[in-house]
Amino acid sequence: MIQVLVLLLLAGNGATAASTNPRLKLSFQDLRMRHGLRTYELERSCCYDSLLLDEERGRLFVGGKNYLASLSLDNISKQDKKIYWPALVEWREECNWAGKDINAECMNFIKILHLYNRTHLYACGTGAFHPICGFIEVGQRVEDSVFKLDLRNVEDGKGKSPYDPRHMAASVLVGEELYSGVATDLMGRDFTIFRSLGPRPSIRTEQHDSRWLNEPKFIDVFWIPESENPDDDKIFFFFRETAVEGAQGLGKPTFARIGQICRNDMGGQRSLVNKWTTFLKARLVCAVTGSDGSHTHFDQLRDVFMLPTRDKRNPLIYAVFTTSSSVFRGSAICVYHMNDIRRAFLGPFAHKEGPNYQWVSYQGRVPYPRPGMCPSKTFGTFSSTKDFPDDVIQFARNHPLMYNPVLPHGQRPIFLQTNVDYTFTQIAVDRVAAADGHYDVLFIGTDIGTVLKVVSVPKETWENMEELLLEELQVFKDSSAVTSMQISSKRQQLYVGSRTSISQLPLHRCGIYGKACAECCLARDPYCAWDGTTCTRYMHNTKRRFRRQDVRNGDPNTLCSGDPQRNSVPEKKVYGVEGSSVFLECLPKSLQAKILWTYQKTSSAMQKEVVLDERVMQMERGILLRSVQRRDAGLYRCLATEHSFTQNLLHLRLEVIDAQQADSLSLSREEESIPPFRHKLWYQDFLQLVDHPNLSTMDQVCEQLWNRQSHHPKKKPPLLPPLSVKVQNQKWKPLGEKRKARSRRMHEVSRAEREPRSAGVW
Ligand SMILES: *[C@@H]1O[C@H](CO)[C@@H](O)[C@H](O)[C@H]1NC(C)=O
Ligand SMILES: *[C@@H]1O[C@H](CO)[C@@H](O)[C@H](O)[C@H]1NC(C)=O
Ligand SMILES: *[C@@H]1O[C@H](CO)[C@@H](O)[C@H](O)[C@H]1NC(C)=O
Repeated sequence: MIQVLVLLLLAGNGATAASTNPRLKLSFQDLRMRHGLRTYELERSCCYDSLLLDEERGRLFVGGKNYLASLSLDNISKQDKKIYWPALVEWREECNWAGKDINAECMNFIKILHLYNRTHLYACGTGAFHPICGFIEVGQRVEDSVFKLDLRNVEDGKGKSPYDPRHMAASVLVGEELYSGVATDLMGRDFTIFRSLGPRPSIRTEQHDSRWLNEPKFIDVFWIPESENPDDDKIFFFFRETAVEGAQGLGKPTFARIGQICRNDMGGQRSLVNKWTTFLKARLVCAVTGSDGSHTHFDQLRDVFMLPTRDKRNPLIYAVFTTSSSVFRGSAICVYHMNDIRRAFLGPFAHKEGPNYQWVSYQGRVPYPRPGMCPSKTFGTFSSTKDFPDDVIQFARNHPLMYNPVLPHGQRPIFLQTNVDYTFTQIAVDRVAAADGHYDVLFIGTDIGTVLKVVSVPKETWENMEELLLEELQVFKDSSAVTSMQISSKRQQLYVGSRTSISQLPLHRCGIYGKACAECCLARDPYCAWDGTTCTRYMHNTKRRFRRQDVRNGDPNTLCSGDPQRNSVPEKKVYGVEGSSVFLECLPKSLQAKILWTYQKTSSAMQKEVVLDERVMQMERGILLRSVQRRDAGLYRCLATEHSFTQNLLHLRLEVIDAQQADSLSLSREEESIPPFRHKLWYQDFLQLVDHPNLSTMDQVCEQLWNRQSHHPKKKPPLLPPLSVKVQNQKWKPLGEKRKARSRRMHEVSRAEREPRSAGVW
């Protein structure tokens, strides 16, 4: 019932339900051959869940099954260093006895990778359901070229790495302390937010209290300062969990959460000993509001990216959500401001009087110091959580949940895809300086191995944003889900991990936008600008003249006026045989461009729009004119409209040959009677003949023709398949050399000639 409602709502709300088509789609082959995509795979390994970017050393550290790797950030395909780190045989056997798969689960899956100090990394793995951690020596300088693990100093990884390779753990290393959100038992039931390493005693969340954590799935953790005073520093956890306060009678809803703790939390003195006294959590809302005011919630938090800004206390939080509905798939990106997060933690606490009561906003007196405040000189007089009065500790224990949720910036997702056959899994964001301001470019990984490049641009004001889906990139050779992502703004590279491999690709490919100012401008890619001759990387601070860019409006009329290339429209000749079909091909660069065809009989005649009907059909790559008539001859113009700018892409001049004339011609190689085996040869020749960039599409054209043929009653099925033939000089006998008319009519689809001069025979 609920799901049906949700579906209706999304379907009814045209503005948000429509999925956006990418402007460009690039295949894995294309990216690898032409656009600098590089890949990396470890032999006998998999599952690249942890990627760690180290700009200073220029390395990408990778954690996979039984292996750690150190790769060059400039080219992940070269100079790899590996560490083989298997689980101990005895743990593997024990894992196997516990009923786990010896090869799939009883391995050491590296889940945690952090920069520890100037010479070492800290890494943890599942160790065959026996979590382990260790220090990896990487050397101080780039040239040191060290990469080793001291297997004798491996330590217990409980509370740091999950036991189960399918589980995620989130952690952040602050100073020499590790803050992690993870299950700390074999069965995966005891979840905790845990502080370990370092000299202070370990601290965790209250155990088995569903008000604190209820089957959480930890997504990410960040350390964010609250003021100039480090005593106020907080650690923020992002997770999703079964909501205790969820509406009754609707099963167990999942909510997305943000949790906070103070870095200087030392636990309570008499109660909450070695437990957090500053833990609070709030719901993160990412929802679409329908025209009737109802909400469709995206509650399955998948990934979070923290985009630093100039103010260290106020980074932007980008979060990826999917729906929990089994009926439709939808994904959304919401952005949160720290101010809104802080406001929720300063708002009312959620309160439940007893088992039979509703969750309400707590109206009573809140003890001092207010739970959630860090002990510091900034906001109070307490120097340690151990000094907090008992009523504060008791209140904190019973009220970890805030009543008000955190709403996203703008109260709605900044990007949304529904009714598509994929969901979002990961996100990385790059802030780009363009000619008309800063743009946040989103790189969104999906569960089908693609990365979407999206930019938000203001429509009229900077408050009213419009999202442009610039590219859909197939980054793996298979379609495995993107499970990890790292971005290097410095190197302008993106690193993407999956179960099967890791890919590296540049953040931009300006050259792909073509050789005209209008194309470059229409792309509205903040990385690119027109420099007078080509579309290249826009660098904000260079004083080069002739840099033309207009991300906000993407209007070539103003930007590219006087650009000489605008007027050179390619013209081609096409021949059609009277009564047969002709295919007029025209492919715009942008998949978002709308194609319009016009027709002009003679140069003095009016230009009219081509009307599509039974006879003139719109195909994926052009239009198909069936049963061509003499009166169809003339000039066809292919116009592409995008962002209210119309370009002339191509002129096709159609000439129609009358049927008799065509009959008198025949393919030079053709014999009077063609034995069946010749057909295949002929067909293969034909395939080469058509010289088509995408044969399957041409096949589709033919297939369609074929099907239509079979609807017309015929005495005999044609022996030769009615396929299209590229009209080329050498394929036709000169007019004078008449052969016997063929017994069958060839149905021909002529295609646009690449070189008009080949039409000289006429
Ligand atoms: C990256 O390294 C691989 C392996 O050494 C090499 O084949 C490839 O050409 C390199 N690519 C670039 C762009 O340097
Ligand atoms: C980094 O930590 C490791 C492990 O504790 C230690 O052996 C090493 O000396 C430390 N390096 C520096 C530069 O402090
Ligand atoms: C050709 O088109 C088909 C269907 O439109 C598509 O699946 C295939 O990937 C295309 N091949 C190439 C080489 O572009």
